[in-house]
Amino acid sequence: MLLHNGEAHFLWRCRVWLQVWLQVEGTMSSMSHGFPAVGLCLAALLLSNALLYLYLESLYPTDELLLSSHVGCEPRHFKMATMKNCIPWLQCSQINAEVRKLKLIGQGAVKKVHLAEWRGQKVALSQLSSLDYLEDFLHGVSMLQALQGPHVVQLVGFCLDNHTQVTEYHPLGSLLNLDSILAQEQHQQHNTWQMRLRLAMDYVSILHYLHGGPAGRRVMCDSSSLEKTLTQFLLTSDFRLVVNDLDALPEVDPSRGLLVKCGHRELTGDFVAPEQLWPFRTKGKPFADNLMPGYDERTDIWKIPDVTWFLMGRVPGGDVVHFHLFQIHEKCKKEDPKLRPSALDVLNVYRSVYGSMVRDNAGFRDML
Ligand SMILES: Nc1ncnc2c1ncn2[C@@H]1O[C@H](COP(=O)(O)OP(=O)(O)O)[C@@H](O)[C@H]1O
Ligand SMILES: [Mg+2]
Repeated sequence: MLLHNGEAHFLWRCRVWLQVWLQVEGTMSSMSHGFPAVGLCLAALLLSNALLYLYLESLYPTDELLLSSHVGCEPRHFKMATMKNCIPWLQCSQINAEVRKLKLIGQGAVKKVHLAEWRGQKVALSQLSSLDYLEDFLHGVSMLQALQGPHVVQLVGFCLDNHTQVTEYHPLGSLLNLDSILAQEQHQQHNTWQMRLRLAMDYVSILHYLHGGPAGRRVMCDSSSLEKTLTQFLLTSDFRLVVNDLDALPEVDPSRGLLVKCGHRELTGDFVAPEQLWPFRTKGKPFADNLMPGYDERTDIWKIPDVTWFLMGRVPGGDVVHFHLFQIHEKCKKEDPKLRPSALDVLNVYRSVYGSMVRDNAGFRDML
């Protein structure tokens, strides 16, 4: 049975409250057996943990809360941090007249990206780099429109006539910069297992959204290596993740037996899922795209442990996180894609590990 985010989170919350309640109950009954002072202290400690949960939930809201609080504009409108009102997406005439390029900040296969300025606001202006990739560019713009929400970079406007799109600018850049950003003195206080695990939760939430969001079941195809995958995500200034590059999101539809292939070339290496590799490579048969079988979104699940290893980096407490995630990561790496968990299954484990580790940390600090 597939639970919706809200339901799963509700069940998780019930489980946590039940656990806390049972512990408090147990502690109270031990009080009646002759250790009132110790019992009272433990009960207070457990109750303080319960309050901590409430506090954490307010700090780290569920997806539904984020969705309702995100920007709050009508469809096809945008609003950046310093703007008072939402305004409609910019069109060709406004982009051509009002957006001024400042400097090149990124160059992938499909787009050339400039930091630009629009009415005193910094924005990112992306332009198609070669007509060979026109189809990918147009696909990316349509996915950006369809998937607008807290998990996706905010669209500011687009002009199909000259193959341009404008998005909200994120000064920390792509996720590939994570370690160098956290090494900077002004960001060092964020370099904790808590913040890094929150980024991993964001990453898996994004996959869950792409696998079952408003655009159907989409596969994050432009992810043939760890580095490539990381460059498709941006780090926001408040250390959250948004997906930025949606140029390669083919749709899987199991009801129509529709599978996908990520490109027409042979994929190699350990980062991609085994079903993405040419099955006859060991028999010496040369690659032929028409004989290559299709696959589904479980290729993204295979890649989760590697991305999370990168996101966790080497911080105190990171090894404990890896220990708790060992089992679910082992399942992500099942050769048979059908045996892998869904992104939501992984997300629920990450959330519960995060919650219990924060509680243990706080409990441990309280004891000192
Ligand atoms: N809104 C943005 N804010 C900051 N940096 C950006 C933004 N959009 C893109 N970039 C930078 O440009 C790079 C390439 O962008 P991307 O959309 O992935 O292009 P491509 O489709 O060619 O791969 C990103 O990895 C990132 O470093
Ligand atoms: Mg890219």
